[in-house]
Amino acid sequence: MTPPRKLHIKSYGCQMNVYDAQRMVDTLAPEGFVETASVDDADLVILNTCHIREKASEKVYSELGRLRVAKDEAARHGRQMSIAVAGCVAQAEGDEIIRRAPVVDVVVGPQSYHHLPQLLARAKSHGRALETEFPVDDKFGFLAPPKPDAIRARGISSFVTVQEGCDKFCTFCVVPYTRGAEVSRPVARIVDDVLRLADNGVREITLIGQNVNAYHGEGPDGRIWSLGALLHRLAGIPGIVRLRYSTSHPRDVDETLIEAHRDLTALMPFVHLPVQSGSDRILAAMNRRHSVADYRRVIDRFRDARQDIAFSSDFIVGFPGETEEDFVATLALVTQIGYAGAYSFKYSPRPGTPAADMQETVSAADMDERLVRLQELIDSQQSAFNVATIGNTVNVLFERTARNPGQIVGRTAYLQPAHVMASTDIIGQVLPVTIASLERYSLLGELAPAVDAQSVFSHLTHSSQMITGA
Ligand code: 5AD
Ligand code: SF4
Repeated sequence: MTPPRKLHIKSYGCQMNVYDAQRMVDTLAPEGFVETASVDDADLVILNTCHIREKASEKVYSELGRLRVAKDEAARHGRQMSIAVAGCVAQAEGDEIIRRAPVVDVVVGPQSYHHLPQLLARAKSHGRALETEFPVDDKFGFLAPPKPDAIRARGISSFVTVQEGCDKFCTFCVVPYTRGAEVSRPVARIVDDVLRLADNGVREITLIGQNVNAYHGEGPDGRIWSLGALLHRLAGIPGIVRLRYSTSHPRDVDETLIEAHRDLTALMPFVHLPVQSGSDRILAAMNRRHSVADYRRVIDRFRDARQDIAFSSDFIVGFPGETEEDFVATLALVTQIGYAGAYSFKYSPRPGTPAADMQETVSAADMDERLVRLQELIDSQQSAFNVATIGNTVNVLFERTARNPGQIVGRTAYLQPAHVMASTDIIGQVLPVTIASLERYSLLGELAPAVDAQSVFSHLTHSSQMITGA
């Protein structure tokens, strides 16, 4: 028997890349590859790159510089190390990578991971291989389903891709170019994946996609199903106790999604709903296709459906033409909404996007200063949200042992990590925890005393409402 070949994947960027990395591992397993944590003993290193913001390609080239040293070292010991660049930088700059970095054997765009074995074979026979076309065959259908062992190793919570790509064309964003047009997987395939995951001990599913609530997959009844309909179907799968989805666009929040939040206890009351800016002028220049008032109406609809719902968001500061007044409008929106957390970024021009040609750039000093002001506001909201949990009893899904001996760590409905001293038996269960204190972003608490199922339920409903009230 040939010894297994070792595969090291380094992923940058979004959840979709984390998921894609797992699927690359699954696709290469039948070729005899097993994962290794170390670059130095790898036979194949894959850089799974992200192109969304600043300096993405420079990072890739400097990483490739380090890998050249590792590859030379392996060759000195008579071992061949192959290097592949995957992800959105591969998609956007594949030809240039081939030209500039002779160390690279394979360049593969996100649409073609199911072709990895053939590309590696082609690189072996022809020297190098590049595939960044959007192939006509169906990537979702060809990617190997994860094996039970692999699923068990991944634990209690798992991502499932339901759609990929985006048709929104926000003027700052590369996603429509690197990930292509929006494509949704059929409901039956997603249900199969979730059934298999549930069978292997997964308890929480996060449906992912670049614009996940644009989901419009073919249903088993031959009709097109929305994300809300899909969530209703998945909530009925035994073993699945929590559902989440990410990332959403405010324009694509339809009534079925609101209803899902009203009706499904498994659907977590925590929604990532990026708004990017609180100024109508900037939203128009970004081609977001909604106003600030539209966004606030969407938030209100969610809140009416489920009182304990909380939100996170993404913001960009320093978009071309953003004035102090526009920026102050963003701060005002954050204050009005009150987020449980949010990500904020300095605008970075992406080659090939319409905003990259806009002339009225904001100075680096203004961008820095605005980022600090926005992050201070968001941080204060996040700490207030976390502090409000202290003293409450909240539901935690336990996932794994913590670094501190004897502790088990899980997450609340709002993705806050929560630690308790307990036996490993509680992994995979949702249990009420009384929160005693907060250490940075982690909650520390004790399992609430066992009570009968009915009173646990009413107790939990009550406690989750208390969080919102705070
Ligand atoms: N510059 C800065 N931030 C960006 N994002 C996307 N493109 C850019 C860009 N060109 C941010 C948006 C998006 C998140 C994933 O990354 O806020 O929601
Ligand atoms: Fe990019 Fe999101 Fe806009 Fe699509 S909706 S173009 S992924 S920012």
